[in-house]
Amino acid sequence: MDLQAFGQKLRELRRGSSLSQEKLAELLPVTAELISIWERAYQHRGRVWRPDRVSAVRLVEVFAGYLAPNEAQHWLAQIDYSLTRDEMHRIFPDYTPPPQEERSRFNPLTLLPEQFLFGVGQIQAKAGRALEHPDAPWLIALDGIGGIGKTSLAGALVRELAAADRFFDVAWVSAKQEGFSPGAGLEAARRPALDPATLTNALLEQLGDLFLLNRSLTERQAGLAALLKKQPYLVVIDNLETVADYQSLIPLLRRCANPTKFLLTSRHALHAYDDVFCLSLPELGRADVLALLAYEAQVRGLTALAEATPAQLDSIYEVVGGNPLALKLVVGQIRALPLAQVLDNLRQAQGKKVDDLYTYIYWQAWNALDEAGRQTLLVMPLAQNGTLAQLSALSDLDPIELTQALECLAALSLLEVSADLEQPRYRIHRLTETFLLNEVIKWQ
Ligand SMILES: Nc1ncnc2c1ncn2[C@@H]1O[C@H](COP(=O)(O)OP(=O)(O)OP(=O)(O)O)[C@@H](O)[C@H]1O
Ligand SMILES: [Mg+2]
Repeated sequence: MDLQAFGQKLRELRRGSSLSQEKLAELLPVTAELISIWERAYQHRGRVWRPDRVSAVRLVEVFAGYLAPNEAQHWLAQIDYSLTRDEMHRIFPDYTPPPQEERSRFNPLTLLPEQFLFGVGQIQAKAGRALEHPDAPWLIALDGIGGIGKTSLAGALVRELAAADRFFDVAWVSAKQEGFSPGAGLEAARRPALDPATLTNALLEQLGDLFLLNRSLTERQAGLAALLKKQPYLVVIDNLETVADYQSLIPLLRRCANPTKFLLTSRHALHAYDDVFCLSLPELGRADVLALLAYEAQVRGLTALAEATPAQLDSIYEVVGGNPLALKLVVGQIRALPLAQVLDNLRQAQGKKVDDLYTYIYWQAWNALDEAGRQTLLVMPLAQNGTLAQLSALSDLDPIELTQALECLAALSLLEVSADLEQPRYRIHRLTETFLLNEVIKWQ
C-alpha cells in the first residue's frame, strides 16, 4: 500500500479539475478534513487513513475525465483496491478489456485438441442442459475411468457453451495428482493436489482480478466469491481425484456457486454430495467403437485398418472394449505392427482386468519404440505442454532426431499435439504418464 503516492495523485487530480477540498468532499460525500488527510497521507500514532472502497470508486468516477482506465486501476492499486469489470465499463464506457490471452495466463482450450467425439451425444446433451439451466445444479461432475473421455467432453461442453454466450467467462483449473522428480519417479500427492488457496489464486489469476492476489486468503476468497456470485462464470476443475481434494474444495465451491456453475471431472464418482449432479461416462458401444476405428483409420491413413474385415474390427472391440484412449493406443500400434500381430498380442491379454490391459497396451507400445522415442517419452512428464525448444533442452537428442521421435510418438497415440499452429505444444495423457512412471521405469 502506498498512501503517499495515492494522496499526491489525488491532490493533482483535484487541482487539475479546479475543485476545492470542500467541493470534492460534497461530491463523495465525506468531510473536507478527510480529503485533506488522504492527500497528505496523514498519520497519527501509527494510524493511517485509507479511503473506504465506496469512496475510492467514487473518486475514480469524479476524475474519470482525467484518468485513463489503466491509470485508474493503477491508482486504486496503491491503496489495494481494484475496479471490477462492471465498474470499469460503467465509469469508462469506451473501455475495451484486454484480449483473453492477456487476461488469462493461458487459454487451456488451445491446449486441448479439438476433436470429434463418438458416442457422447446423450451425455453431452444432459450435461449441456444442466449447465445451461439458469438454476441448480450449480456443481456438475463427469466421472469415469482413465481415458474414457472426461476431459475431452468437458472441452467440448466449454466450446459449445462459449459459442452460445451462456457464460460471462470461462476458467479451467487442473488438479495435478502426481509430482515427478527425475530419479525418484512418481510421487503420489499426499496433500490435496488442489487446495482452496491454490484454486482461489488460479481463478483470480485467470479471471483477471490480479489486484486481489496481494490480499490475505480470507479477503481473496471473499473477493473471488463476490466475483463469481456477480455474474455467471463457468469454472472447470479437471482431475479432481482424491477424497481429500473434493472434501477440502466443496465448501468453497458452494460459496462461490450460483449463478456461476462448476464442471468437475473425476475418476471417482462424487455421489456422496447431494448437490453435485453426477454423470458417469460409460464405455462406447460396439457401433461407436467401429465408427471411431473407421475414423482413425481414415485420418491417420492406416490402410490396414481401413481394409480390416468386420470380424477383425469386432475382435478389436471384444478385446479392448469401448475405452477411447485404449482404442487409440491400439490403433497407434497398427502403424508399427501388422494388424494380425496386434490382434494376436491383444488376445493374450484377453480377459484381464482393465488396468492389466492398459499395462499390456503400454508395454507393447514401449516395445515398438526406438531409443530416441523412449528417451523422448521419458522426458515428457518434465515438460507437459512443452514446446519443441523446451523438449530439446531436456533431451539429449538433436533437433532432427527429436522431431522424428515426436512424430513417431504421435503416430502411436502416445503423444498429443496441441492445435496451436504457431507453436505446437506436446503433452502425454495423464494415464500414459502414470504408466510411464509406475511401470515403464521397471521395464527399462
Ligand atoms: N468419445 C470419444 N471419441 C473419440 N475419442 C475420444 C472420445 N473420448 C475420448 N477420446 C480420446 O481418448 C483420449 C482420452 O480422453 P480424455 O483425456 O478426455 O480422458 P479422461 O477421461 O479425461 O482421462 P483421465 O482420467 O486419465 O484424465 C483422448 O486422446 C481423446 O482424444
Ligand atoms: Mg482427463
